[in-house]
Amino acid sequence: MALKPNLIPEPALLLVPDDAGMLSWRDIFLNDHPVQMEIGSGKGTFLLAAATEFPNHNFIGIEWARAYCDFAADRIRRHQLPNARMVRADANWWIRAHVPDQSIHALHVYFPDPWPKARHHKRRLIQTPFLLHALRILVPGGILRIVTDHAGYFEHIRTVCSEFKALRIIDFVPPLPTADGLLVGTNFEKKYILQNRSFNSIALKKPE
Ligand SMILES: C[S@@+](CC[C@H](N)C(=O)[O-])C[C@H]1O[C@@H](n2cnc3c(N)ncnc32)[C@H](O)[C@@H]1O
Repeated sequence: MALKPNLIPEPALLLVPDDAGMLSWRDIFLNDHPVQMEIGSGKGTFLLAAATEFPNHNFIGIEWARAYCDFAADRIRRHQLPNARMVRADANWWIRAHVPDQSIHALHVYFPDPWPKARHHKRRLIQTPFLLHALRILVPGGILRIVTDHAGYFEHIRTVCSEFKALRIIDFVPPLPTADGLLVGTNFEKKYILQNRSFNSIALKKPE
């Protein structure tokens, strides 16, 4: 079901055949600007703000829910942002299939689904296999930022990240100059802040 009728996700929706192999960002964006990637973009609020703030960076949002992905792509089209694209896919699969080694300058994961029930924990995005993807695709010096409101998931994230020595934990510096003391300015952050929820953040850097 669409979030709004008459969404036009093209041309901001990046359609990649499953067998296309590794992509060339240059072919997609027609420049060699640094590429940043957001996983689980939801309605695309962060991606839009970041692409507006940094016109000399390219942005890819991966979102597997069709309604949200189309909504975000439609917003990118309406804002005429040539430096942003949405992809409708499972991030782990799509990264493995299509994202070249050492091609991403920053990875953003904001309010990933916490899957609170113990029997669903294996569905959580932030696991060692995901960190291995991050290590492969980040450029030297590239940064992975994660924010969550879920204390239990954050404990898990901190443990998995601490044990993963190939990426170094660094101070979390907000990726954007957001208003009102927000960390990242996503829809979930704006919603949860009204509920007085607290947030946890972590950042990891690939060695230079
Ligand atoms: C809790 S929402 C947060 C959305 C947005 N980041 C925000 O903060 O407003 C998590 C989003 O991640 C998407 N998602 C979860 N796992 C994903 C995956 N493996 N690949 C792509 N998208 C995923 C969900 O569909 C959902 O839209």
